[in-house]
Amino acid sequence: MASDKHKFILITLLLTAFLCYTGYLYISLPRKTSAIDEQSAAGKLVWQKYNCGACHQVYGLGGYLGPDLTNEYRFRDTSVIKLFLKDASIFTPVMPVFNMPEPEMEALLSYLKSLDASGKSDLRTFKVNQNGTIEQ
Ligand code: HEC
Repeated sequence: MASDKHKFILITLLLTAFLCYTGYLYISLPRKTSAIDEQSAAGKLVWQKYNCGACHQVYGLGGYLGPDLTNEYRFRDTSVIKLFLKDASIFTPVMPVFNMPEPEMEALLSYLKSLDASGKSDLRTFKVNQNGTIEQ
């Protein structure tokens, strides 16, 4: 059976390893913070107003009825996105007809552009590092 001295050494070693690893993770985390511009911030409010997140994901979070829209701005022409925002019933009976006014559409497009610039939704392109962190 381990003596008190051995237990103390073991606990100290484990605690030191834990603190070193935690410190290493915090130091090596990528710190990319960029404030979004006013138009994109307004677009985010439009996104929340119409509750797009109930059916769509951004950065992989949200509902699963519709596709992830993180990189939508890159993959679809803006005129097609606008068609979806005006009257999606020409494409699908599932997405509501929003008949969105032009200024809201412009703000939303700006938000989608900022999403595209700041993240990727395709998990297959992610790189898993040895320390367990993920790089996009
Ligand atoms: C009730 C669920 C629902 C809500 C709410 C909703 N959508 Fe959708 N949306 C869908 C579905 C389902 C599709 C897939 C249509 C298809 O391609 O068949 C879709 C497709 C789209 C597409 C085209 C995606 C592509 O490239 O195929 C865009 C852009 C889009 N939605 C934007 C929005 C925005 C912006 C909002 C909020 C203003 C919103 N949607 C709200 C269900 C929804």
